Amino acid sequence: MSGTRTPPTTAETPTAQQRERAATIFERSVAGRRAATLPQCDVPERSLDELIPRGLRRERPADLPEVSEPEIVRHYNRLSRRNFDLDTGPYPLGSCTMKHNPRLNERVAALPGHARLHPAQDPKRAQGALELMWRLERELAEICGLPHVSLQPSAGSHGELAGLLLTRAYHADRGEERRTVLTPDTAHGTNPASVTMAGYEVVKVATDARGGVDLDDLRSKIDERVACLMLTNPNTLGLFDENIAEITRLVRDAGGTLYYDGANLNAIMGHTRPGDMGFDIVHVNLHKSFSQPHGGGGPGAGPIAVSDRIEPFLPVPRLTRSGNGDGAAPAFDLEYERPKSIGRLRGFQGNFGVFVRSYAYIRSLGGDGLTEASETAVLNANYLLARLREGRTGRLLPIAFDRRCMHEFVLSGAPAKRELGVKTLDIAKRLLDFGFHPPTIYFPLLVDEALMVEPTETETREGLDALADAFEEILAEAERDPEIARSAPYTTPVRRLDEAAASRRPVVRQPAAG
Ligand SMILES: Cc1ncc(COP(=O)(O)O)c(C=O)c1O
Repeated sequence: MSGTRTPPTTAETPTAQQRERAATIFERSVAGRRAATLPQCDVPERSLDELIPRGLRRERPADLPEVSEPEIVRHYNRLSRRNFDLDTGPYPLGSCTMKHNPRLNERVAALPGHARLHPAQDPKRAQGALELMWRLERELAEICGLPHVSLQPSAGSHGELAGLLLTRAYHADRGEERRTVLTPDTAHGTNPASVTMAGYEVVKVATDARGGVDLDDLRSKIDERVACLMLTNPNTLGLFDENIAEITRLVRDAGGTLYYDGANLNAIMGHTRPGDMGFDIVHVNLHKSFSQPHGGGGPGAGPIAVSDRIEPFLPVPRLTRSGNGDGAAPAFDLEYERPKSIGRLRGFQGNFGVFVRSYAYIRSLGGDGLTEASETAVLNANYLLARLREGRTGRLLPIAFDRRCMHEFVLSGAPAKRELGVKTLDIAKRLLDFGFHPPTIYFPLLVDEALMVEPTETETREGLDALADAFEEILAEAERDPEIARSAPYTTPVRRLDEAAASRRPVVRQPAAG
């Protein structure tokens, strides 16, 4: 294995075969080649002018690749193998909860009645789908400890925006205009971004020596201008805030709403609930805790659960259920007449396949299973942390706030950088050669050379040991020769990229065929 981890570090000229494999689908195009042949038209032909008005048509045909079906299949299969993914290796990407998604839930989502449902279907003919959504709402309400749920937001950050619009509507309804939103300095970047987008001003709250909200700083920043406090608990350091009841009390007494960023719900399911901690609004990243892959731009869902005082403002349409109790089958519908609502947040009802997967996940695990999932996530993180406290890893990559963690923890690579000249980025890249996706790096910002690890509950003990061993081996080889980590990775389809240039000067256009 170690032989494959360190191929030559010198740049090599790509072979013809490597060039062929790296070709884009456009470069494979041959004029006139087709992947399918359509049958003869067996209905009366109509002119294009009749079907699509000229003003809506393109002036010249789109520049599409012309390839055969096997070429398409091979091309995309090849591309998919060039990615690191959860199906080929562990993905301890802190804050993202990249856990295994049970295949059972994929099968349920793929059933034709689920997968082929049209978004514009009349509610009367989509009773089963609406019932599933209604049931999912009830499950999420129970998990969050808050009575009302809307499935509309399409991501965690969309839920944040929804929560802030709800906060604005709530205060406006009371005749109050409040300007600021408090967020801890450990907050995920989307929190302050959502605050700004909703037209509020961000006020940062400091972190104390134990990694929680600094209560004195919080008290000094609470005044009548505070609209809301936005917080995730456990926070992005992986630590449960020991003063959460006092924090929510202070903000509530000052008239603010309380927003819980539920991205870290994976640590607490079945043990505690945001509603019980005193929060008014929670978003749930279904594409983290509830059987959905996170990231990669795929469809997501960030439902929100809210308290009674926020409910009148929820987005429309609201899902309703009527007719229970009199023996008749319940009927489900969509309600639009809600005078205080903040309005619609998106077209149609959300990513239905995501709802099906999450509902199947929740029902197949049940309350006990969800509780166990969180317990195992926390146990795995603490086991791995205990292993990483040993040896050179403990010395060169110490934990940032050393107390029992929840489902993730943050290490600081500052000593490794100082003593070995190897940065957190180098260690993260080198992990790829050992078969691990790198953890989240350089976040949260208050930890120098941060490295944020979330092993999740779906990794085995052997897998956790292998990750701990990989850290130790990477640091041992860096002691001998820091260049090994600095030039990693060696075994990936592309070597180290200039990530700053890639994001600042991205080349997004296909060069014209030569
Ligand atoms: C703590 C935290 N909050 C919010 C978000 C935003 O969620 P989304 O990516 O679904 O917009 C994330 C995403 O990683 C997160 O980790």
